[in-house]
Order: sequence, then structure tokens, then C-alpha cells
Amino acid sequence: MQLDASAPAVSTITLSRSSPNQTNLAAANPPSAPPSRRWPRDWPSQQQLLERQHGRLEDLLNSLIAEARTMGPLATAIGVPWDALDCRRLQRALGLHLRLEERWLAHWDCLDAGHRASHRLARTAAHRAGPCIGDSDANPTSYLKWLHGLREWFLVHRDGADAIAYSRADHAYRQQQP
Ligand SMILES: [Fe+2]
Ligand SMILES: [Fe+2]
Repeated sequence: MQLDASAPAVSTITLSRSSPNQTNLAAANPPSAPPSRRWPRDWPSQQQLLERQHGRLEDLLNSLIAEARTMGPLATAIGVPWDALDCRRLQRALGLHLRLEERWLAHWDCLDAGHRASHRLARTAAHRAGPCIGDSDANPTSYLKWLHGLREWFLVHRDGADAIAYSRADHAYRQQQP
């Protein structure tokens, strides 16, 4: 928090030294345009990004499981609602990854019906989490079970369907190269 609070002050000092005139300051720092996200178009870069997402998803699943194991009994004891847990972040990260992966694998003609069906199952499972839909019956045990189920799907899927499809996409990409 302290670092965040000090950042604008440091930035102001730097700007004042280089451009004491307010008009110059404005000209030197026009309102920034909204960041445009450009997705990579070549398979090696796409694969790199997808693998980074895999790594982040695994880390997120592991940390949520560890958090649920540690905090679960405490949260129950003090009456913290389970929907306060950050499973929505996991749902968003998983949703984005599945969308990108489907789009790019389809582009390289490497997304088969089984792979799509597996993603559909994961999406459905991810959005059925009691803690995320305000299920008052949700409890630490069911939350952990949900997380473990998602992690199991993720690990098996990454090393199975994804690995095969990525290898095919790599081959398709190389075929296109001059
Ligand atoms: Fe994946
Ligand atoms: Fe996949």
C-alpha cells in the first residue's frame, strides 16, 4: 500500500523537474489512449501465452486450495460467507484461457469435438461452484472438493488434449512457413 501511495508523488517530482511549465507538461503527457490488446498471430507466440496461462491457472488453483485448507475452518467459525472467497478470479482466468485456446486451435484447424466437449464440461463445473453462486449450503468441504475437481481436470487436460492439440498446431504452423 505504501509503495502504491508514493508512486504518483515520485512521478510528479520527475515531471516538474523536466517541464516546469504546465502547458508543456500537458503537451508532453497527452491523455493516454486506452491500451489496445493485440493478440499474437503466430502459433509459437500463441503457445507461449497459453502456456503462461496454464502456469498461472495452476498457481491460482494451488493457492486457492491452500487458502481454503487454512482459512476454511476459521471462516466457518467466524461466519464469513463462502461467496467472499475469490473463486470468481479463477472462473474468469479459466474462461479467458478456454476462449483463447479454442479460437487459436480452431484457426490452426486443431480443435476437435472432444476437446470442445471437455472445455464445455470444465466451464459448467467452474460455474457450478456453490461459493460462487451464493449457495448458502456451501461449506469448506464442498468448496475444496470443487477446487480439487477443477485442478484434476486441468492437469489431465493440459497434459492430454492440450498437449496433443498444441503439437498439431505446431506442425500446422510449420507447414505454412516458407
Ligand atoms: Fe489449456
Ligand atoms: Fe484445452
